[in-house]
Amino acid sequence: MNINYLITGANRGIGLALAEELISNDKKVICLCRESSDSGKLVSLQSKNPGRVELYEADVTVENDLIGASKKIKNLDVLVCNAGIMGARGGMMDENNKYSIISDVLMTNVAGPFFTIRAFLDQIKQSKNPKIIIISSHMGSQKHSGSESYFYRASKAAINNIMTTFSNELRPIEIPIVSVHPGWVRTEMGGNFATLSTQESASSLYKFIQKIDMADSGHFYNYDGNRLEL
Ligand SMILES: NC(=O)c1ccc[n+]([C@@H]2O[C@H](COP(=O)([O-])OP(=O)(O)OC[C@H]3O[C@@H](n4cnc5c(N)ncnc54)[C@H](OP(=O)(O)O)[C@@H]3O)[C@@H](O)[C@H]2O)c1
Repeated sequence: MNINYLITGANRGIGLALAEELISNDKKVICLCRESSDSGKLVSLQSKNPGRVELYEADVTVENDLIGASKKIKNLDVLVCNAGIMGARGGMMDENNKYSIISDVLMTNVAGPFFTIRAFLDQIKQSKNPKIIIISSHMGSQKHSGSESYFYRASKAAINNIMTTFSNELRPIEIPIVSVHPGWVRTEMGGNFATLSTQESASSLYKFIQKIDMADSGHFYNYDGNRLEL
């Protein structure tokens, strides 16, 4: 069966590595990135793999961008909400804990996946093998202690909560949805000291995605497929 994947924020970091992983596993991938993104690596992936990479512009905080992209896409099976930002990394006195940055973090990490799922739901409903994956973070778990990154943590806790609400609404139509911690990954967000390469994270995520079914829906997982506490 030909399974089509869609990834938001696919131009760099974990999103790009997952797109590459899908291509190396002979899948088709629809890649979304912002108009302002550096999309050079995606364009090159597309030209090296004719007919297997579609590329559309969409900022996940702009619902009309997502709806516009959705109108161009016919078949979609697996939706990966990956786009995310960090915001203030410090404690309560971090000067980046201010309205504009807090608002960007919450709009991107919480409203972004919500808008994305709504925009592509019609296509997902038509799939015989639908799955929705939200790339979250263990920093959003109530069990993960820390004294910094207030709104990043809150945004990932919120999107985990939204994932469980989606799972309740989507259960009757048998669309599984999960959130996943991708590991600590060497990206612009994760930094150079992170333990995993983007390829290691993407390869584990890919293996886990293959196994997701309705029994998993509504839960939070590590990239290796082990359950995490919300
Ligand atoms: N790296 C880690 O250790 C780690 C750990 C836990 C969770 N995560 C999560 O994993 C996901 C990917 O993170 P990453 O490490 O790959 O980060 P990254 O290298 O900073 O990449 C972030 C991606 O998200 C895109 N993006 C940001 N805001 C967007 C928006 N409004 N609309 C569309 N795309 C947007 C960026 O596009 P531009 O190029 O246009 O900015 C970029 O493609 C995030 O959800 C993050 O929270 C990462």
